[in-house]
Amino acid sequence: MKKIKVGIVGFGKIGSGVVKVLQSRRAFLKDKAGVDITIAKICDKDLESKRPVKVKKSILTRAIGKILYDPEIDIVVELIGGIRPAKDIILEALRQGKHVVTANKALLSESGYEIFNLANALGLQVGFEASVGGGIPIIMALKEGFVANRINLIYGIINGTSNFILSKMAEGPSSFKEALKIAQGKGYAESDPYLDVSGIDSSNKLAVLALLGFGIPARARDIYTEGITLIESSDIQYAKELGYSIKLLAIAKRSGGSLELRVHPTLISRNHLLANVNGVYNAVFVKGDLIGENLFFGEGAGANPTSSAVVSDIISMAKADASGRTAEKKIAFRKDVERIKKMDDVRTRFYIRFSAIDKPGVLARISGILGKHKISIASVTQKEKRASRVVPIVMMTHEANEYDMAKALKEIDALSAIRKKSVRVRVES
Ligand SMILES: NC(=O)c1ccc[n+]([C@@H]2O[C@H](COP(=O)([O-])OP(=O)(O)OC[C@H]3O[C@@H](n4cnc5c(N)ncnc54)[C@H](OP(=O)(O)O)[C@@H]3O)[C@@H](O)[C@H]2O)c1
Repeated sequence: MKKIKVGIVGFGKIGSGVVKVLQSRRAFLKDKAGVDITIAKICDKDLESKRPVKVKKSILTRAIGKILYDPEIDIVVELIGGIRPAKDIILEALRQGKHVVTANKALLSESGYEIFNLANALGLQVGFEASVGGGIPIIMALKEGFVANRINLIYGIINGTSNFILSKMAEGPSSFKEALKIAQGKGYAESDPYLDVSGIDSSNKLAVLALLGFGIPARARDIYTEGITLIESSDIQYAKELGYSIKLLAIAKRSGGSLELRVHPTLISRNHLLANVNGVYNAVFVKGDLIGENLFFGEGAGANPTSSAVVSDIISMAKADASGRTAEKKIAFRKDVERIKKMDDVRTRFYIRFSAIDKPGVLARISGILGKHKISIASVTQKEKRASRVVPIVMMTHEANEYDMAKALKEIDALSAIRKKSVRVRVES
């Protein structure tokens, strides 16, 4: 039986999970996969803190060189996160002839193209199943299962923290702040939730999906990104009355010769499968020309699901190595869309909530400005007056251009009758 040695860099939440699975399931994996995986070394800055798994002291080190320059180690598993030194560690591991497994979506979205190109040139593999959707095997599906397809659309609910907050806000009248507090109390949100609620984490993951689905080496900064912080529970309620749910959606959508890449809160029909993905769950919806519509659903984070994905990559590399097919799973960059569409040129329907003073003529002025910018209204509801004189006016528009909508809202928000920045949420059919 082929024996494979791995070196693990980063003994934190996911690192501990991976060590636990590899140690406790060694015999099980030998039987099931036909390879014997041993952990040769674990590197972390901090070797003192208690971990949820016991390891021999002799395999622990603070010196990364003990992994990178150990000729016995076949696979380096990077689980420290961040850009530096993770990138240097991965590139050096490849130069030293080692395969790499990583869960680092931030790094892959920033430098994936460079890392995959080096791996391809050296005939080595980089496994990154754990970088998107935790235990959901979406990377393998896009790389292998759907390889014969022309992918037309990917919709992802790929940030569990944001999905939990929006679901909580939908359950009862909790504000964003209250829902965030609950998420933090349950350990579903970091004390600094910025990367999650700003949409940046979803953009990092969307960049990885876009590379696999469409061959476009986009970076997170090329992706239009808007988080969930401006959504109020009243928006979720109004959307519900109109037959929609609000989800933070990561969208990669073929549109002519170009690709729409965007992350933002989105109204989706309550009949859509994604509308019922609640709590910390993740889901990825893929449309291909042969497969039609497919939905992947599961736990998108946490030590167990993420370790499942990391170990799956390790096993698949170990098996490929055993039969000498090292370069089999190289990432092919067949660019099948010309360019990323400019956000200004994207066309969608919109939900808009204006906060206006209740006086005659305001609605007419708003409609007039929208009309001037070629935006036609599909429906309008003036909600009941609150304690103040400010009333919410909720509109649904027909398809309109982003650029026109931005100009119209700027003009409307400057009216003296408008008391708060208007909230607009795009609609996906
Ligand atoms: N947590 C999840 O649910 C999840 C899900 C999917 C993917 N991921 C990805 O998995 C990776 C690891 O996440 P995590 O949650 O396990 O993070 P974590 O708990 O913070 O673990 C990272 C560990 O690496 C150590 N470390 C940092 N820099 C190091 C260096 N230069 N050399 C050696 N050790 C170093 C850290 O030590 P210090 O604490 O002392 O800095 C920490 O022990 C990240 O890329 C993350 O995006 C996480």
